[in-house]
Amino acid sequence: MKAMMYTETGGLDVLKTQDIKKPVPGDNQVLIQVKAGALNVADYQRFESGNDKVSVKNRMMNFFMGFNRAPIGAEIAGVVVEIGKNISHVKVGDSVFGKVAGTFPKGGFAEYALMDKERVGVMPDNYTYEQAASVSISFETALGAIRKGNVKAGMDVMVYGASGGVGLFTAQLAKAVGANVTGVCSTRNVDILKEIGIDTIIDYKTSDFTRCDKKFDVIIGVNGYNPMKKYK
Ligand SMILES: NC(=O)c1ccc[n+]([C@@H]2O[C@H](COP(=O)([O-])OP(=O)(O)OC[C@H]3O[C@@H](n4cnc5c(N)ncnc54)[C@H](OP(=O)(O)O)[C@@H]3O)[C@@H](O)[C@H]2O)c1
Repeated sequence: MKAMMYTETGGLDVLKTQDIKKPVPGDNQVLIQVKAGALNVADYQRFESGNDKVSVKNRMMNFFMGFNRAPIGAEIAGVVVEIGKNISHVKVGDSVFGKVAGTFPKGGFAEYALMDKERVGVMPDNYTYEQAASVSISFETALGAIRKGNVKAGMDVMVYGASGGVGLFTAQLAKAVGANVTGVCSTRNVDILKEIGIDTIIDYKTSDFTRCDKKFDVIIGVNGYNPMKKYK
């Protein structure tokens, strides 16, 4: 089968389409014919040659786990073509979405990909494959933050980095539970936050969010750009 692989670190030009063996599902796995994949931050952190802490750690981990010659693509949607013997919640022919399996070949930008039992779910009827593929990791991260922050109706919540992959879900989830949401983003994304109904928008290019008059019940700093003392 064809898969998008990286065999060295660098920019996007290190990604090449190659032929690799079609994977075989284990007892707790599902084989998917991939219909769509979403590009997640976790993908480029695997092959990019940046020197930030996450990139260096990921490259070391991939090297020792044999993932340094592997397809990329962390989140996908597609059709189930084969299931392991312990799988009962999805069946052959189902349209599913979720994260790719943590085992080799560990990549979803391919004709077929493996998904682990607990990482695959049936797609809602009203989703396209493209929409479903882009939901799992960023949404799960956002949901984790909303739960950890115990966000409830009526709370004042700030989402710093509200215009990104995780931030857009975080801000919408906070709105959905009935919080009053302040979103921080740059000028180019102010309209997106308006479109999703964020109550107050702070443009970090033109204003200092620490000068905001409001006190917040919860601040979710999605991207780690600020030290904790700044939020306090
Ligand atoms: N995506 C995932 O599924 C996932 C899962 C787990 C953890 N994470 C981690 O969560 C963090 C955010 O990931 P993401 O995928 O949401 O990233 P992203 O889509 O690139 O979003 C980054 C956010 O940070 C803002 N931002 C960029 N430069 C900034 C600056 N100089 N000062 C202040 N804000 C700035 C962006 O706003 P503007 O674009 O408006 O400038 C945007 O809202 C990363 O550290 C990532 O490793 C992500």
